[in-house]
Amino acid sequence: MGFSEAQEELVLRSWKAMKKDTESIALKFFRIFEIAPGAKQMFPFLRDAGDAPLESHPKLKTHAVSVFVMACESATQLRNTGDVKVREAALKRLGASHVKAGVEDAHFEVVKTALLDTIRDAVPDMWTPEMKAAWEEAYDQLAAAIKEEMKKAA
Ligand code: HEM
Repeated sequence: MGFSEAQEELVLRSWKAMKKDTESIALKFFRIFEIAPGAKQMFPFLRDAGDAPLESHPKLKTHAVSVFVMACESATQLRNTGDVKVREAALKRLGASHVKAGVEDAHFEVVKTALLDTIRDAVPDMWTPEMKAAWEEAYDQLAAAIKEEMKKAA
C-alpha cells in the first residue's frame, strides 16, 4: 500500500497544529513511563533522578519532539519515494544509540501508543481513523528502519 498525498497532509497538518505546545506534548508523552515503567531505566539522566518530576528533564522533551519530527519526515519520504530514507549517518547513529540505551523492539510499540494518544488528545477535533492510520504507517516504517539498523549495531 502506497502512502498518499492525503495521508502526508493529515500528518503534517496535525503536527503543525500541535507543535506550538511542546510542553504539553512532552508531558503527555511521558505517559510511556506509566505504560512501561522499565523504560525509565534506559534514560541515563533519569536513572539517578529519584522522584524528581519528569517534566523538569529537557532531554525527554527533546526526545518526544524528535520522534514527532522524524515521523513527519518519514511521512514525506513515504509519499515521495515509498520508502523511509533517514540519512545513512543519522540512521547508523540512531541504531547505535538505541542499542546502547538497551532499547528493545517491544519498546517501539509503547512509544507508538504514547505518540498516537498524544496526537488524539492534542487535536481532538482533527482526529479520525484516517489520521491515526497515516501516523501509524509513518511511525511504523521509521521504527522498522531504526530497528533494522539496531540489528546491525548489536
Ligand atoms: C535517543 C529518536 C524510539 C529511548 C534518541 C535520539 C533520537 C531518538 C534522535 C538522540 C540520539 C541520537 O540521535 O542517536 C527516536 C525515534 C524513535 C525512538 C525517532 C522512534 C521512531 C525510542 C524508543 C525508546 C527510546 C522506543 C525506548 C523507550 C531512547 C534513549 C535515548 C534515545 C534512552 C538516549 C537518550 C540519552 O541518553 O540522552 N532517540 N527514538 N527511543 N532514545 Fe530514542
